Amino acid sequence: MKIVIAIDGYSGTGKSSTAKQVASRLGYTYIDSGAMYRAITYFFLKNDIDFQNQSVMIKSLPDCTITFDNGSIFLNGQNVDHEIRTMEVNQSVSQVSALSEVRTKLVEQQRKMGEQKGVVMDGRDIGTVVFPKAELKVFMTANMDIRAERRRKELDKKGIDEPLHVIKENLIERDRIDSSRKDSPLKMADDAKEIDTSHLTLNQQIDKIVEMAESIIYASRD
Ligand code: DC
Repeated sequence: MKIVIAIDGYSGTGKSSTAKQVASRLGYTYIDSGAMYRAITYFFLKNDIDFQNQSVMIKSLPDCTITFDNGSIFLNGQNVDHEIRTMEVNQSVSQVSALSEVRTKLVEQQRKMGEQKGVVMDGRDIGTVVFPKAELKVFMTANMDIRAERRRKELDKKGIDEPLHVIKENLIERDRIDSSRKDSPLKMADDAKEIDTSHLTLNQQIDKIVEMAESIIYASRD
């Protein structure tokens, strides 16, 4: 039996890297739901759409088609893997993802992608809203300083030099907006397993989740 694995948690806890590797070990499809919110944010930025003007943002949503191919994300056919990871997008994405119309559009698409099961999806509301019946739900947390340092290294690898305090402030602000928004706030599902990744290596995180998944898959065979 194939299952759905939902991985939620705060920004910079290592969800994406972990989820990607878990999917690869299980032969599952990995879907980065945060990348979809980032792609819409990039679309608004690119088209100079005013973030204060919600009605213009909502009206332009049908012009925004997001697809995945071979681990890459495309906005209206253009590969935007790099464009969605800038600080500019980081600074606006929580505001965009608080819009209900944006969430409705993306949640519908995410559910379709999970229909066949055999998916690992990471985000903020995957276990609570997108797949409330997911067979395995994981909620990742980590110490703030460790999260900021991890994000800094990630940006550094992409050639983006950002001071640690700016990254930390952005993480704190995103946590605040993501956890307090009215529609689908970031919170741990009652039946999720919490993993504190502060002192775990990436491989240890992956091992833990793969073990949990395999025991569920194994038990379902009886
Ligand atoms: O995982 P990430 O940092 O790439 O996500 C970027 C933003 O997208 C995050 O700050 C909140 C939003 N998001 C969301 O609201 N719901 C999701 N399922 C995934 C991301």
